[in-house]
Amino acid sequence: MMTLWGGRFSGKLDQLAWELNASISVDKAMAEEDVDGSLAWAEGLRMAGVIEEVEFKSISNGLTTIKHEINQNSFGYSPADEDIHSAIERRLTDLIGLTARKLHTGRSRNDQVATDFRLWMVRRIPLLIDDLNNFQKVLINKAEESGDSIMPGYTHLQRAQPILTAHWWMSHFWPLERDKQRLLSLFERVSVLPLGSGALAGNPTGVDREFLAKKLGFSHISQNSLDAVSDRDFTAEFLFCAALIGTHLSKLAEQMVIFTSTEFGFFTLPDEFSTGSSLMPQKKNPDLFELTRGKAGTILGSLVGFLTTLKGLPSTYDKDLQEDKSPVFNVFSSITLILPVLGSAIQSTAQNKNKMESSIDSFMMATDLADYLTEKGVPFRDAHESTGKVVNIASKMGLELGQLSIEDFQSIDPHFGQDLFNWLSPHGSINRKNSIGGTSPSAVKNQITKAKLLINGEKENG
Ligand code: ARG
Repeated sequence: MMTLWGGRFSGKLDQLAWELNASISVDKAMAEEDVDGSLAWAEGLRMAGVIEEVEFKSISNGLTTIKHEINQNSFGYSPADEDIHSAIERRLTDLIGLTARKLHTGRSRNDQVATDFRLWMVRRIPLLIDDLNNFQKVLINKAEESGDSIMPGYTHLQRAQPILTAHWWMSHFWPLERDKQRLLSLFERVSVLPLGSGALAGNPTGVDREFLAKKLGFSHISQNSLDAVSDRDFTAEFLFCAALIGTHLSKLAEQMVIFTSTEFGFFTLPDEFSTGSSLMPQKKNPDLFELTRGKAGTILGSLVGFLTTLKGLPSTYDKDLQEDKSPVFNVFSSITLILPVLGSAIQSTAQNKNKMESSIDSFMMATDLADYLTEKGVPFRDAHESTGKVVNIASKMGLELGQLSIEDFQSIDPHFGQDLFNWLSPHGSINRKNSIGGTSPSAVKNQITKAKLLINGEKENG
């Protein structure tokens, strides 16, 4: 084992302690970012006159070779590498000899790892936003594909009011839009350069941090070195954003599970995205939706786990912080796998329009009847009461509302007239919800137009 900190020690680190301490298996995912950070730092050192031009050339050539090896997947890790920083410095020493030992001047792994990790995240957030965008396009497609099809809308999972199916699909678009906005705003807080903060107190080399930030593409520079090496707010925020994305996808997935059941039958699962049972030959299971729901729990656990790690840490860097990367890497892999799979599964899910429409019963238009009475001048509370009585009578008689006679209605409220029967149509009910954001076809059309603008607008800027 070759460490970056051997001088002070005469004894060797215990083997199992070495394994606990090492982070290479996780932080090798930031190899490219580590090289980029070192390239910028070397240039900063040259500009500050800390290393000679020829030394800089040598370091920069060596690092470029290493970057190539990383990209080709041919970088050879040694069992003696403690973390990605020592692995790359070890390889640089193999390649260019003793000059490599000057690279770490004024730098600590504390500001180095924070830089690598932020750089990694700054580069991944746009990919995640792209995945979300693609998924949102699927939702818009489904909304458009469903045309004028209608379905029951639910509260408490009890039939409530009829809605346009497109409106339901689009209800899953907006939470993800907010997730994207959250990620965009987080991006600004991640894009802060810690490099140059040293171990905790700053660095004495005179390296131009403005230059480093520019070189690495950071928008801001940390203003307090103690904070810079220990700030993992961006990690917690990323995990929170991911947990909320997971929660939103899980809510959709749960509804897909319910709506593809035989009892509902609103949607039919595509073969390519369903799985069977080893015992029951007839089964077609919504495993991918269930896994989406399940993984949302694991992601939430990562957030809670990491916040617990952070809570109560003394300032500044503590080794506990090494626990920051694996949850983020795992969560990122999960979500960037779930989004495209779920998107394709939903894209190829068939919508059974008849089944959805025939699940709307006349009681779902009870609110329309109350609205009808208010149009006749009845105060809404009284209208609600009378309509409730109508529902009570019909359900006791085992009839739909439209099967009651006009006399039945008028015995409850004389304001009821023959025209009430027009108010029992689900399409009529939907058409009347014409407020902005409502379920009427024209409101939903406007909603889809706005959604498309958002998707395309972001593409243009992004
Ligand atoms: N592997 C460490 C981490 O991920 C790098 C920083 C090590 N710093 C230290 N003082 N031991 O946090």
